[in-house]
Amino acid sequence: AVERTLSIIKPDAVAKNVIGEIVSRFEKADLKIVAMQMKQLSKQDAEGFYAEHKERPFFADLVAFMTSGPVVVQVLEGENAIALNRELMGTTNPKEAAEGTIRRDFAESIDANAVHGSDSASSAEREIAYFFGA
Ligand code: CMP
Repeated sequence: AVERTLSIIKPDAVAKNVIGEIVSRFEKADLKIVAMQMKQLSKQDAEGFYAEHKERPFFADLVAFMTSGPVVVQVLEGENAIALNRELMGTTNPKEAAEGTIRRDFAESIDANAVHGSDSASSAEREIAYFFGA
């Protein structure tokens, strides 16, 4: 089915000047960018976005990292977009990510891992609405 998913190009990848290379991977995989915004997240933006991780030990570091510089927030649309985007990204820890994935090629660490992608249809719906409204 055609789905929509939320993608974030994180501050490490923006600082590395690879926004275009990452967007190009989405496009080559037949995902369409149907919304896009460059944004400096406030602490409140990042805490709200990652609310489900509030109790995790890495939460404060995650929020600090995500507010350390601008991010590019996008909605990707295409056949099987949620799982396809996760395949293109690779595992959360770039050290375990498969060859040819975005995280393997552009990420340094589990914190500075270049991209975020919604992990399910319900997260995608919530995350898209969080940044782009209905
Ligand atoms: P992301 O997909 O944006 O969702 C939550 C983020 O927390 C994750 O990517 C990682 O960058 C970060 N993180 C840091 N430590 C961990 C951890 N131990 N497990 C999962 N995510 C982590």
